[in-house]
Amino acid sequence: MTTPQRARFAEDALSRRATKVMTRGNTRSTLFVPPAPPYAVRGEGAHIVDQLGGRVIDANNNYTSLIHGHAHPRITAAVAEVVGSGTAFGLPTEQEVELAELLSARTGQERWRFSNSGTEAVMTAVRAARSYTGRGILIRFEGSYHGTSDAVVSRTAPGITAGVRSDVVVLPQGNVEAFDEVIAEHGDRVAAVLIDLMPNRAGLVPADPAFVEHIREATRAVGALMIVDEVISLRLSLGGLAAEYGADPDLITAGKIIGGGFPIGAVGGRADVLAVFDPLADTSVGWGGTFSANPVSMTAGRVAMQLFDAEAVQRLNGAGDRLRESLLAAGVAVTGRGSLMRLREPGEPADLWWAAYERGVMIGTNGLISLSTAMTEQDLATIERSIVKAAEQGRR
Ligand SMILES: Cc1ncc(COP(=O)(O)O)c(C=O)c1O
Repeated sequence: MTTPQRARFAEDALSRRATKVMTRGNTRSTLFVPPAPPYAVRGEGAHIVDQLGGRVIDANNNYTSLIHGHAHPRITAAVAEVVGSGTAFGLPTEQEVELAELLSARTGQERWRFSNSGTEAVMTAVRAARSYTGRGILIRFEGSYHGTSDAVVSRTAPGITAGVRSDVVVLPQGNVEAFDEVIAEHGDRVAAVLIDLMPNRAGLVPADPAFVEHIREATRAVGALMIVDEVISLRLSLGGLAAEYGADPDLITAGKIIGGGFPIGAVGGRADVLAVFDPLADTSVGWGGTFSANPVSMTAGRVAMQLFDAEAVQRLNGAGDRLRESLLAAGVAVTGRGSLMRLREPGEPADLWWAAYERGVMIGTNGLISLSTAMTEQDLATIERSIVKAAEQGRR
């Protein structure tokens, strides 16, 4: 439904300019809300300001990546300093070593490599698993989003070839029988099982630990690798969810918060698996990316992660748990864990998005709410009030 408030954004000069040069006026499919999304002008801690001067609480945080909100002074100071001495080199830098050391200490994964997005990290982790095992099949689970590389988008998506389809098996998460059937039939052709322990698009419902353990045992038994996609879930626990589950994966993928607001992706894992990227090996998997591991993302990521220490992780998860409990008590359908939650209200997601935005809170177009350490108790109370009212409006 296009209300007068929403129409103001579609009729705005910037929106009109944008649609002349970009289909629907922007780059990222996930940011579009009909009739046209607001455009961000400025971010200040927990808030953003749009092109019409509206100021809202950012409960989206660039789809969970801005763990400290916008323009955290410690991150901007560190970035300003590093930018002044060069933003990208045709040489490795100490900054990437520092971030790799930090991630290694936190997650327990021995070796790391960096990319510019979670999409690239997942794509390359899958290729590493195929190279390491000499096999082709990837098993993954329904409702999990792993970026937009061929192997992880819908098998029926336009542009996906029959070859890709035949190498990917998609199963319902948590269904042991279906999983065992595929392993029994194709186990010796499986390169990897890719799992997100709290899949966003499946509603942010945590994976069953017994299922995760079963995958670990089954993959070991048939010589396949287990890849845990931690691009979103790393924020939920100091060492990530894989460590908390005791999943002991061969590879993990990371992104979002580890870039401190700048483009990033990463693959971490066992030294012998990451050795597939060894440029001195007879055959090695190439890892490119002109801007991979650039010192700006590496520095911002290191500072953001240092600020997100054990106490900050716990505090933010506590705030999320309290918010979710209050929403549930007020009759709002919501799932999730810690600082991440997903509204499961009936009706058009875009209507809920606008209903929240018009009450001063920006959520994800898919109903995602992601907290940041920049939010005050007052911000959290506003989020609660606005979401309760937005959900009520949707049910009327
Ligand atoms: C679990 C998961 N994996 C991978 C990705 C892809 O990351 P990026 O958007 O940085 O390419 C995302 C992005 O939302 C994600 O949530």
